[in-house]
Order: sequence, then structure tokens, then C-alpha cells
Amino acid sequence: MQIVLIGPPGAGKGTQSVQLAEYLHVPHLSTGEMLRDVCRRKTGVGTRACVAMQRGQLVPDALVKEILFERLKEDDCRAGCILDGFPRTVPQAASFDEWLEERKRPLSMVIELRVSREELLDRLSSRGREDDDREVVLARLDQFDELTHPLLDYYNSRGVLQVVDGLGTAEEVFARICSLVDEKK
Ligand code: AP5
Ligand code: MG
Repeated sequence: MQIVLIGPPGAGKGTQSVQLAEYLHVPHLSTGEMLRDVCRRKTGVGTRACVAMQRGQLVPDALVKEILFERLKEDDCRAGCILDGFPRTVPQAASFDEWLEERKRPLSMVIELRVSREELLDRLSSRGREDDDREVVLARLDQFDELTHPLLDYYNSRGVLQVVDGLGTAEEVFARICSLVDEKK
């Protein structure tokens, strides 16, 4: 199964994706983690990406697509994967659609994790990742509203969007996700 999780910063994409990947025995692919890894390795290609991430802005589509599509080629992704943080713009989604079509792989489901802004700010204020400074979090939320939110219409019009209430404990949210996934299996 190819499943995409979409949600604003702090919605629980990472928390839920890890569990769902384990549940479905497929890899968890987080473009945020991949990009943080590129930044740690301080390669030339990553410099622009790291500056964008520190400011809470999205990394250019071309770089993200290059990294992600390279990873998707690996054997462990053949049976599917859980995508956390990709696609994040309409052009990324269009490229992913093409990629899936070429390989005759269906997109099983897109899950929107819906969480109030107040709760998001609360969760991120106590986590302490490098990009969790309040100003940077606000910039990340703006980028979500401007560039990622339109994806919800994009996927809704294709009939693959499922909305999940992201409030409650991580276990409660996971149970909601599993009931949707089990229906689809
Ligand atoms: P990314 O790493 O994807 O960060 P994000 O989208 O800002 O989201 P977070 O990872 O902060 O939150 P999450 O939804 O995963 O929630 P989590 O489970 O951690 O991206 C980082 C940056 O990389 C972007 O800003 C951008 O620059 C770049 N980037 C990445 N992908 C890109 C792309 N495709 N295109 C361009 N640029 C890209 O939970 C958050 C906190 O809440 C944790 O402390 C967790 O323990 C807690 N929590 C989780 N669930 C619950 C719950 N139910 N109740 C209470 N607390 C909870
Ligand atoms: Mg995350």
C-alpha cells in the first residue's frame, strides 16, 4: 500500500507513520528526516536546503524529488511505503502521480491529520527540534497553509482523501487510522 500522510507541523505525521509502517510492514519515508540527514552531512547540494529549513521554508521541489525518487527505487519500497511529508506542493504531487502511473502502482490513500493550531503550537513548543523556535514554527505553518493545503483539494477531487481527527492520544489517533486502512486492505 502507498499511503501519504498530510498535516501541518506537529500534526503527528512522524509519530503515526512510524507505527503505520510497522503495522503494514512497509518502509516509512520522511522527507524531513532525509533532508536533515543531508544537512548533517554538509554536502554542497544541501546548503540551500538547510538554510530554507532553518527559516521554516520549504526546500525547492527539484531537490526533494531527487532525494525521494532515488529512495523509492530501492527494493524495500516495492510493496509500498508510508510517505510522511511528501508530497507537500501541487507540483510534487503531480510528479508523484506520474511516478506511480509509470509503475502501475495505485495511491491507496491520503490521510489528512487535522489538529487545531493551538494544539500544534503547544506540541512543538515542548519538543525542541532545531526548527521548533516559535518564529520558525509560525513560518512553517504559513508554508503549510499556502503551499500544502491546496493538496487537500487536489487529492479530494481524486477521491483518495481521508480526514482523521489528530487530537487525542497518539494511540487513539492510530486506532482511527487503522480502521480506515483495514477497510481498504
Ligand atoms: P518535517 O520534518 O516533515 O516537519 P513538519 O512537517 O514541520 O512536521 P513535524 O515533523 O514537526 O511534525 P509531525 O507532523 O511529524 O509530528 P510529530 O509526530 O513529530 O519537515 C521539516 C522541514 O523539511 C520543512 O519545514 C521543510 O523545510 C523541509 N521539507 C520536508 N519535506 C519537504 C517537502 N516535501 N518539500 C519541501 N520541503 C520539505 O509530532 C510532533 C510533536 O507532537 C512530537 O513531540 C510528538 O511526540 C507530539 N505528538 C504527536 N502526536 C501527539 C498526540 N496525539 N498527542 C500529543 N502529542 C503528540
Ligand atoms: Mg515529522
